[in-house]
Amino acid sequence: MSDRTICLLGGTGFVGGHLTARLANDGWRVRLLTRSAARHRALKVLPTVKIIEGDVYSPDFLRNQVDGCDAVINLVGILNERGRDGKGFERAHVELTGKAIAACQAAGVRRFLQMSSLKASPEGPSHYLRTKAEAESIVRRAQNIDGTIMQPSVIFGPDDSFVNRFATLIRLPIPVFPLPRDKARVQPVYISDVVEAFARSIDNPDTVGKTYQLGGPEVYSLKELVGFIAETLGLRRRLLPIPDGLARIQAFLMDFVPGKPFSTDNYKSLLVNSICESDGLEKLGITPVSTRLLIQRQLSARTGRRRLDEYRRQTPA
Ligand SMILES: NC(=O)c1ccc[n+]([C@@H]2O[C@H](COP(=O)([O-])OP(=O)(O)OC[C@H]3O[C@@H](n4cnc5c(N)ncnc54)[C@H](OP(=O)(O)O)[C@@H]3O)[C@@H](O)[C@H]2O)c1
Repeated sequence: MSDRTICLLGGTGFVGGHLTARLANDGWRVRLLTRSAARHRALKVLPTVKIIEGDVYSPDFLRNQVDGCDAVINLVGILNERGRDGKGFERAHVELTGKAIAACQAAGVRRFLQMSSLKASPEGPSHYLRTKAEAESIVRRAQNIDGTIMQPSVIFGPDDSFVNRFATLIRLPIPVFPLPRDKARVQPVYISDVVEAFARSIDNPDTVGKTYQLGGPEVYSLKELVGFIAETLGLRRRLLPIPDGLARIQAFLMDFVPGKPFSTDNYKSLLVNSICESDGLEKLGITPVSTRLLIQRQLSARTGRRRLDEYRRQTPA
């Protein structure tokens, strides 16, 4: 058992759940900071993982929690904000990264890994991509910090909200499936490869100061991907591309739907293709498995679980 400790911000979500399990397995003591511990009871089963609830925007709280850590990973990210002016993105991505870096500097923690996004750019079309870029530059400019930045395309895996969301929507009993930005291209990367990229980087001095673009071995347009999901599920659906003008209006209207299943900012993020220009997985010595195969496996496991649930509902105990 190692006595090394790592602190994760945003470690209670999809990526964090997988990364935490891996780090715990690698012998790390993991401190998971969260705004609400009650929502993440499942993570408590791991004996070397401590879930710490608090105000993650409080400099004192952050300073105390990173104190004594060997590394910090910031996974905090939001796809949508409450309002529409970008302030929510600014707070979650830029302000929080600044505070986490300041806490590390105050506590003398040098190693800092930052989760960003492919196509993060100050000139990006969405608040999401611009604020992710701003957060990156805080990490790059920070004194006494050994930073590494990860820029994944869309991430998929058993409990994702990408493939699974499309799989849920495509089952709706409607004759046509409307699709905004159908030609937008993505390079889905498997959750285990993203986790591997972080795990390999933490102790590797060669990764300090570097940015890694993470994408899987196959590129899909949204239309191809949704078509493939439907085909894998054995469903015949006509995909109806929505022209950009209409898609923009649809996104604007969705801005006001509680929970924002789609938003103007999501629409704008899709204006750039999420495709890697360099192969970060290869640079880290990671060979990805076929995306097609992994998605097929994911969907058939999901279908198996659904059938089992239906069987249990129909069979008296
Ligand atoms: N999933 C993808 O396809 C994908 C692709 C590219 C990049 N990324 C990036 O990867 C990171 C992790 O993604 P994920 O899919 O694991 O996200 P997730 O499941 O939504 O988890 C996000 C985490 O951030 C915390 N969080 C959410 N809103 C926050 C806020 N306003 N202030 C402070 N903390 C907040 C949550 O922690 P608590 O609620 O416990 O406080 C949660 O643990 C994000 O930075 C995301 O931008 C994800």
